Amino acid sequence: MKCALLAVLLVWCCCCALSADARPARLRSRPLDNSDTWNNIMVMAKHAQAQDRDHETRLIPVISSDKLKDGDVCCVTIQILDYYLKHILDGQSREGGERQYPRLHLVKPDLHRVARDLQPHCNSTQIDLEHLNTFTQNLKRAGEMYKNKTKAQNKAIGETDILFHYLYESCRATSAS
Ligand SMILES: *[C@@H]1O[C@H](CO)[C@@H](O)[C@H](O)[C@H]1NC(C)=O
Ligand SMILES: *[C@@H]1O[C@H](CO)[C@@H](O)[C@H](O)[C@H]1NC(C)=O
Repeated sequence: MKCALLAVLLVWCCCCALSADARPARLRSRPLDNSDTWNNIMVMAKHAQAQDRDHETRLIPVISSDKLKDGDVCCVTIQILDYYLKHILDGQSREGGERQYPRLHLVKPDLHRVARDLQPHCNSTQIDLEHLNTFTQNLKRAGEMYKNKTKAQNKAIGETDILFHYLYESCRATSAS
């Protein structure tokens, strides 16, 4: 009797292990679901927005919610995140950015983690870079329009909440492609 029960249990365990293995690798990064991260990003972005006088321009291209949900934009959104980290956020600390933007020191490591978690799932030769190119062109144009690169970067920091929202929506997919 005990043996039979043990056998059933064993088979059940095997099934569990197999079905867990059969599931596709999950494309998700912990900070995306962390309310502290969300809160810090909101505080930082709001602070940047308050210093921004130009309410007409938008740098990150608008992506419809249908497009976000179909999963294809996750990888290009990560490319935009990578650009933020390399060219906008990491440069800030050298210019007293920690004082300028509250919570920047908390936001940066979380965003680095999202990039580190998700980037390996993206094949860079397959990404449609249109959104990234539009963003960098908008940033460049804003810098020329303001005649001040710092102001354009401040606008970009004010859009970090949009970027994070896009990552949250588009990188939900369970597929590893
Ligand atoms: C990336 O995509 C290209 C084009 O589809 C393909 O040739 C290449 O093998 C892929 N690389 C990886 C690492 O999957
Ligand atoms: C550019 O803008 C920043 C922030 O608004 C300001 O501190 C800086 O003095 C400006 N630089 C020039 C050259 O106007």
